[in-house]
Amino acid sequence: MGMLSGKAVVVTGAGRGLGRAFALHAAQAGAHVVVNDVDGELAEETAESIVAQDGTAVVSDHSVADPGQARAIMRLCHDEFGRLDGLVNNAGLNYEAVSWLDDPARMRDVVEVNVLGVMYCGVAAAELMATSGGGSIVNISSGASLGQRKLATYAATKGAVSSLTYSWALDMEEIGIRVNAVCPLAHTRMVWASERSLRNCPPERTPARIAPVVLFLLSERSAGITGQVVRCNGPQLHIMGQPHLKAPILERDVWDSDSVERAFDEVFSGHLEPYGLEKRMPPKLRKWTEPLRSA
Ligand SMILES: NC(=O)c1ccc[n+]([C@@H]2O[C@H](COP(=O)([O-])OP(=O)(O)OC[C@H]3O[C@@H](n4cnc5c(N)ncnc54)[C@H](O)[C@@H]3O)[C@@H](O)[C@H]2O)c1
Repeated sequence: MGMLSGKAVVVTGAGRGLGRAFALHAAQAGAHVVVNDVDGELAEETAESIVAQDGTAVVSDHSVADPGQARAIMRLCHDEFGRLDGLVNNAGLNYEAVSWLDDPARMRDVVEVNVLGVMYCGVAAAELMATSGGGSIVNISSGASLGQRKLATYAATKGAVSSLTYSWALDMEEIGIRVNAVCPLAHTRMVWASERSLRNCPPERTPARIAPVVLFLLSERSAGITGQVVRCNGPQLHIMGQPHLKAPILERDVWDSDSVERAFDEVFSGHLEPYGLEKRMPPKLRKWTEPLRSA
């Protein structure tokens, strides 16, 4: 018996890259799979590979970025397989841009797929899962959500995916749905498009290496695990820390600009945080952290 035997799972963006690997591995683990990709020919190829290995798959060429089509993907799963147990919210777009020259049309496209697409699919899936005792949603976020140069729009969409994961996990526990996210790093078209990503991602970091994490979170072996964002980066596997309210929390009846300035001078100067995935030190603290340069 495979770890997903008898389960019906939707994988969005499964025509290539990570989504294809998630769909193939889910089918090998016994799941009936809806292989979705807006590029229908690629989705067809993934489904053919599944069927060639004696698996079960149906194809959807719907776009996740349209609420009606997102519902149709989930409905297809329910109609074909009589149930919907798992959703991998994987479809995504990215591009690099210098932030002050970013293009509104590209920003909108990425938000529509990476944020609204994840929302439309998750909500439509949860509505069906709620009627059959629950399920598991695995969102695909990114380490970029911590902030990365030339990826501001993409990073913001992935930050939204992590926030959704926390909120959905809180909301959906009572209807039996677990919601987690995975931040992958794998050699795909998305990485080929960026010289910097290529440098950070050697070719042996294949999508297949991320699939076991997603399968675990889809399966009952991860019962009791929800609201977690897990990063799998080649040999490393770790939980992403939750954003939190950082102490000390100062109290005043009302804050004016003078008292805010004093708070920064007297208290927060020692509590400023390095920022972004690269952990850059705020300029005010660099004199303490960078070696003195001789004149
Ligand atoms: N590759 C990495 O290292 C990496 C790192 C962090 C996060 N991710 C995330 O993993 C996911 C998969 O990325 P990938 O690297 O496999 O990318 P990819 O570009 O190889 O594949 C993405 C797939 O999504 C499909 N897609 C795009 N818009 C769609 C839509 N509206 N509806 C349905 N399908 C759509 C594309 O046709 C494509 O086949 C994305 O969410 C991405 O942001 C990838």
